[in-house]
Amino acid sequence: MRYSDEIIEEVRSRNDIVDVVGQYVHLQKKGANYFGLCPFHNEKSGSFSVSGHKQMYYCFGCGAGGNVITFLMKYDNLTFTEAVKQLADRAGIKLPDEDDSPAAKAMRDKRQILLDINKEAAKYYYYQLRGRNGQKGMEYFRGRKLTDETMQHFGLGYSNITSDDLVKHLKSLGYEDSQIIDAGLASYDEKYGTHDKFWNRVMFPIQDASQKVIGFGGRVLGDGKPKYLNSPETLIFDKSRNLFGLNYAKNSRAGYMIICEGYMDVIAMHQAGFTMAVASLGTAFTTGQAMILKRYTDEVILSYDSDEAGTKAALRGIGILKEAGLKGKVLDLRPHKDPDEFIKNEGKEAFEERIRNAESTFFFEVRVMESHRNLADPEDKTEFYRDIARKLCEFEEPLERENYTEAVAARYNIAIADLKGLVASYAGRAGMVTPARRPESGIQSKKKPEDGARKNQRLLLTWLTDEPDIYPKVAAWVTPDDFSDDLYRKVATEVFTGMANGNFSPAAILDHFTEEEQYGQVAEMFNTNLVDIETKDQRRKAFRDIILGVKQAGYDRQKKELKPDDPDYLNKTIQGKKALEKLAHANISPDD
Ligand code: UTP
Ligand code: MN
Repeated sequence: MRYSDEIIEEVRSRNDIVDVVGQYVHLQKKGANYFGLCPFHNEKSGSFSVSGHKQMYYCFGCGAGGNVITFLMKYDNLTFTEAVKQLADRAGIKLPDEDDSPAAKAMRDKRQILLDINKEAAKYYYYQLRGRNGQKGMEYFRGRKLTDETMQHFGLGYSNITSDDLVKHLKSLGYEDSQIIDAGLASYDEKYGTHDKFWNRVMFPIQDASQKVIGFGGRVLGDGKPKYLNSPETLIFDKSRNLFGLNYAKNSRAGYMIICEGYMDVIAMHQAGFTMAVASLGTAFTTGQAMILKRYTDEVILSYDSDEAGTKAALRGIGILKEAGLKGKVLDLRPHKDPDEFIKNEGKEAFEERIRNAESTFFFEVRVMESHRNLADPEDKTEFYRDIARKLCEFEEPLERENYTEAVAARYNIAIADLKGLVASYAGRAGMVTPARRPESGIQSKKKPEDGARKNQRLLLTWLTDEPDIYPKVAAWVTPDDFSDDLYRKVATEVFTGMANGNFSPAAILDHFTEEEQYGQVAEMFNTNLVDIETKDQRRKAFRDIILGVKQAGYDRQKKELKPDDPDYLNKTIQGKKALEKLAHANISPDD
């Protein structure tokens, strides 16, 4: 069963796309739309647009697009039904019984099985650690100063030295080899058959925000390599959208979160009472993770190792926090390497003090820039001041920029007037900041070379959507049949019908498609830029060009579909040509 159109419409209309997307993407209002950094491709300037009016999103950079439902499907890797459910929950709508189509059920079951297997594995490792086999693991954790309570709190475990222990156990519970492999807990090769991925390691279960075990990290007991082995990404384990420790940290009321590098760091911090700590999962900190943190806090303290790699990671992290619209600070733990070592050596009061003194990301970045300069050399010193001025230009808010200018001038003994002058000169040059802007020129960037016919059709559909009042003027000249390929014709038919009946909704049209690629293409039809229309004359000319362009393409299509040996070929071709000529002299205008 699929939900009825009415239900879906209700779910959609009670979940404003700007609100929903705004939970995941930092959006800024620009004109009628909102813009931000696209969550579906890597970019530095915001090409991702969300329209409250159309209830759609569209990325001018990568072409991803859709409505609030397809957004969640893509962002959280959900099925249509799962996304509808989530949104219904959010809006407090009660849904009829769930979709029991075999495909939907199979997907639900599959995820559930992987969750069940991970849970069973976590239990198994947990008991191993506490049993006779787990002595070495237990000694290891005790050596690292973890209390029994902490070990239990984090569900820590141990994987046996034999290499098919877990597989045997899971099979005894009725799971199949392929399911255990899909859960990321075993691999297969000809020599060993299906065998455990983890053995002779202490195990750190990785939980999602709702406490479900979705994967594991396993550490060697000594100095072997790799030091940590992690579950691969699976249907239920997305490393870029989960954080170790989040299941607890989300309930900490500290008002900020600490992101660090390691599982052991998180555990040591929580043990010492710093329950706002989380770590990424053996991969670099991602925008997706920043957006998740943003659901719980607006300030993040970065705690990376005190070495060159750690500094680099921090600089990268600062960029990600800024993009996500999060305030950031950087923790300095020198001379110790990481939070775990710091706390072990200096204790929690000292750690608390370091948190209080965490440096603003700005000063951290300035300090890194300073380390690349020799301030005894006048030329280098000047360059350093320029670096600072450029960095100051990144503050969008004048007051904030002013405050930092004063603070940094005082700290480095720079004449304040000189620094302000430098900032002003860079600001003028670079165009103060780079706010998310609708990139007029970027439209073609990632896509196929534009074919003019389709572009006219898109312009027409976008225009109609933006200004439904012109519908009668359009309908006087164009029919959906003029649209040149199947997808366009299908959409145009729905648009024209909806407009004629007065119930047009671009977001609803999207639900009639099923392929992700189509969502983007359809969204594009409603998000094509009309540039340079200011005067009434320009408006009339643009309208006329578009109508003529669409008609031309329509005739071209008809002609192509006619075979030259068709008895009507000549007749129809001539008719088409005549009609076009007539059109060229007609008074085509969007206004009266
Ligand atoms: P570190 O090498 O800094 O280790 O890796 P650590 O967290 O301080 O661990 P201990 O204290 O030596 O036990 C930081 C994080 O990077 C990932 C893990 O998530 C680890 O917690 N990592 C590290 C891997 O995924 N694989 C590795 O081989 C090493
Ligand atoms: Mn460590």
